[in-house]
Amino acid sequence: MTSTYFTEKLLGWYPLHRRDLPWRATRDPYIIWLSEIILQQTRVAQGLPYFHAFVSRFPRVQDLAAAPEEDILRTWQGLGYYSRARNLHACARQIVQERGGKFPENYESLLQLKGVGPYTAAAIASFAYQEPVAVVDGNVYRVLARFFGISTDIASHAGKKEFQVLANQLIPGEHPDQYNQAIMEFGALQCTPSNPDCPNCPLSSGCLAWNRNLVSSLPLKEKK
Ligand code: ADE
Repeated sequence: MTSTYFTEKLLGWYPLHRRDLPWRATRDPYIIWLSEIILQQTRVAQGLPYFHAFVSRFPRVQDLAAAPEEDILRTWQGLGYYSRARNLHACARQIVQERGGKFPENYESLLQLKGVGPYTAAAIASFAYQEPVAVVDGNVYRVLARFFGISTDIASHAGKKEFQVLANQLIPGEHPDQYNQAIMEFGALQCTPSNPDCPNCPLSSGCLAWNRNLVSSLPLKEKK
């Protein structure tokens, strides 16, 4: 009951609030992969111009693979975490040399790519191929911890596992891509880290943190 309520309310909220972002208008795994690597540790507003620069300079994975590394690093300049740019290049080469330029088409094989971890593999598998695997990032931890009142430390191994299991139970078989976009957008715009607008939140009546006055203490993240 609670899970159904959560999913339905979330999917009702999304079309009313979603931002029109360019990577949401495609099912091309290359474009989706590019956007997700750029958006790691980066806000949408900061990542957008880089996304456009990469897509126009390197429209296909073959263009990225063939480019000299310094071109890629120059286009990346200002984004930080330069290992992401190097991994981007290595991954593009891997796809061209080992796979004839074709992206793997499911979660497990996407994990074999350089620089692609569980979050990015789930994003590509769901957005490009509609595979029902849940994305779990900081936004998702926050939304789930608050709504379901989970106080397990998200920095612990047990916590990571618990949230991943719950997230994969919640994702619907139909439109899993919409669900993943919705929960990330809900975390970014509504269920924000500080001062979330709970009185106007359509999920508040079912939200454990809101009902027990725990919003500001969840998710729990212990210092390592
Ligand atoms: N941050 C990471 N991935 C994102 C996506 N697909 N849409 C919006 N923000 C994101």
